[in-house]
Amino acid sequence: MSEANSRMHSSEAILSVTDLVKTFTLHAVGGRQVTSLAGVSLTVGTGEHVAVAGASGAGKSSLLRCLYRSYLPDSGTVVLHTPSGAVELTALPDRQLARIRGRELGYVSQFLQAPPRVGPLELVIRAARRRGLPQAEAYQTAGEALNRLGIDKPLWDVDCSVLSGGERQRVNLAAGTVSPPRLLLLDEPVSALDPHNREKALLLIEDLRAQDVSVLAVYHDMKIIRRLASRLLVVENGRIVADGTPESVLAQQHSALADHLTDPLEHELEAAR
Ligand SMILES: Nc1ncnc2c1ncn2[C@@H]1O[C@H](COP(=O)(O)OP(=O)(O)O)[C@@H](O)[C@H]1O
Ligand SMILES: [Mg+2]
Repeated sequence: MSEANSRMHSSEAILSVTDLVKTFTLHAVGGRQVTSLAGVSLTVGTGEHVAVAGASGAGKSSLLRCLYRSYLPDSGTVVLHTPSGAVELTALPDRQLARIRGRELGYVSQFLQAPPRVGPLELVIRAARRRGLPQAEAYQTAGEALNRLGIDKPLWDVDCSVLSGGERQRVNLAAGTVSPPRLLLLDEPVSALDPHNREKALLLIEDLRAQDVSVLAVYHDMKIIRRLASRLLVVENGRIVADGTPESVLAQQHSALADHLTDPLEHELEAAR
C-alpha cells in the first residue's frame, strides 16, 4: 500500500490508546509480578491496517485483550471513536460494552473458544446475529463465510472440539469477520494454516479494506505484513519500540524483529545488508 493511500485513510482516528499498563500477580510463584504492558500509547486511523509484531511474551496478545477489555488494564485509556461519539472502554458499563462489541469492535483470539455441542455453522450464525443480522441473513452469510474459508458442509454441524487446529482457526476467523465491525483486532489469524488455506484467509482479511474495516492485527510473517498492513508496530517488553510503514520499520533492522519474524524477514534483512 502506498504512503499517500495510507495517509488518506488515516486522517481520522478510530482508536486512541494512552499509557496502557497491565501487570499480573502470579500467586503460584510467591506473588511475583509480571508486567505485560509497560505504558503503551497508539492511534489507529480509520481504514488503516496496522500490524503488530514482536517476540513471544512481548505483550502483543495482552495489548489486544486490553483493547477489547477481556483484560482490564491497571491504568491508561482506550478511546474508540464511534459514529455516535467517543467512548472510553476501560470505564464503560458492561451493557454498553456489549453493544460496542456488537457492531463497533471485534476480536479474533488466537484460539477458538466454542461452547460445547455448538458446530461451526451455529457459531458463525450466532456471531452474525450479535452483529445485528436477522436470522435468515445470518444463516446465509455464515454459510458463505465458511465456504469461503474452505470449511465444507459436512463439517458445519460437527462439535467444534473435533476440528483440526487449522479448521478451528478458520471457523474463528469466519465468526470474527462475518458482517464485520468497524474495528477488528486479530491475534495471529493465519498462524496455524497451510499455504492453500492461508491464502483464502488472507484474501478475506484483505477484503476487509473494501468494507471500510480498520484492522489491528498480530502477524509473524513479514511478507504478510507487507501485503496487508499500512503500518507496523513492534512490541518489546510491553512497549512499542517502533511505529512506521513496514518499509521504514524494516529499514531500522530492529533486533526485536530480526529474531522473531519468520524466514521471509531473514531474507529481507540479508538483502538489506
Ligand atoms: N492471564 C495472564 N496471567 C499471567 N500472566 C500473563 C497473562 N497473560 C499474559 N501474561 C504474561 O504477560 C506477558 C505477555 O504475554 P502476551 O501478551 O501473551 O505476549 P505475546 O502475545 O506477545 O506472546 C507474558 O510474560 C505472559 O506470561
Ligand atoms: Mg500472543
